[in-house]
Amino acid sequence: MRRLAVLTSGGDAPGTNACIRAVVRTALAHDLEVMGIRRGYAGLMEGEVEQLHGRFIGGIAHKGGTFLKTARTDEFKTAEGQQQALDNLKKHHVDLLVVIGGDGSLKGALRLHQEGVTVAGVPATIDNDVPFTDMALGVDTAMNTALTAIDKITDTATSHRRAFLVETMGRNSGYLALMVGMASAAEAIVIPEVPTSCEEILELMKEAYGKGKAHFIIVIAEGADPDCHTIDRYLKEREKELGFAVRVSILGYIQRGGAPTAFDRLLGTRLGAAAVEELVQGNYGKMLGLIGSDVVATDLEKVVRGTREVDLALYKLAEMLEIYPAA
Ligand code: ADP
Ligand code: F6P
Repeated sequence: MRRLAVLTSGGDAPGTNACIRAVVRTALAHDLEVMGIRRGYAGLMEGEVEQLHGRFIGGIAHKGGTFLKTARTDEFKTAEGQQQALDNLKKHHVDLLVVIGGDGSLKGALRLHQEGVTVAGVPATIDNDVPFTDMALGVDTAMNTALTAIDKITDTATSHRRAFLVETMGRNSGYLALMVGMASAAEAIVIPEVPTSCEEILELMKEAYGKGKAHFIIVIAEGADPDCHTIDRYLKEREKELGFAVRVSILGYIQRGGAPTAFDRLLGTRLGAAAVEELVQGNYGKMLGLIGSDVVATDLEKVVRGTREVDLALYKLAEMLEIYPAA
């Protein structure tokens, strides 16, 4: 009986458990034995491999996080670490492997593919910086978590007529900040992809204060330059001329957890099932992504070569909508 193994790697993302469930159920439907590898590539190097039965994935699809746990490990980037992983895949007679993770994890999956492992990848990262998929697992849930937080912050900002700097995650991508900035009708959005300055932000805020704006919300990506703390320090030194008092809210890790939305549960289910189908059909070294409403397989080699760019046309739309008519 052929064996399929599944692992989750890198930053965790809501929807991953729905994906694991689909991988296990689809593999069992193809009469494969299913193995779970704990803690991503770290667990693979350590041989943390166990058989998964159907009951393992009972009642997990609606839970955030990953039941297989995850890890980041630089050791797997070394030839020795990769050899350890290959030895364990052989020792546990793994014929097929599904890797669920972000761009780094998919680079690791490509390395295994290049060493002859029969692997398929599923994009899972709240950063949404993986190309050849419109959405990665976890992005929709992270957006909704951040949006709920910003709506709450806007309540208190309005009560006190304050300005808030709200920092989202995203590593070097401005996707989360741009999308939740637009969705929350923020007065300003600061992302790594669009240069700005403290001076420009100050002028925008002074104009808004002069026009009687009830609050001023700036959604800023953690990878922006200047970053959240730099802008905060600059504005705080000029609060008298600014008008608004300034406060900071770093959303941080709440964007990584929580019950996955319907979108992420369905995306995880579709991509997980498709990853197993690809392997069963003999198509190796692919990532399964969502393009439009279709699941599309793309060579890992092509996926890891680039990054998913932010749609700057959306940024321009947001900028136009922020520029309000005279009060
Ligand atoms: P994510 O997958 O969420 O982007 P990381 O970038 O931390 O998270 O990658 C997860 C893991 O994938 C890393 O800890 C490392 O073990 C492995 N990895 C990342 N980049 C590479 C690479 N270039 N070659 C081999 N393995 C890699
Ligand atoms: O890649 C997902 C992510 O949440 C990034 O947005 C963030 O910068 C990073 O992971 C945080 O890494 P860690 O979980 O290792 O602190």
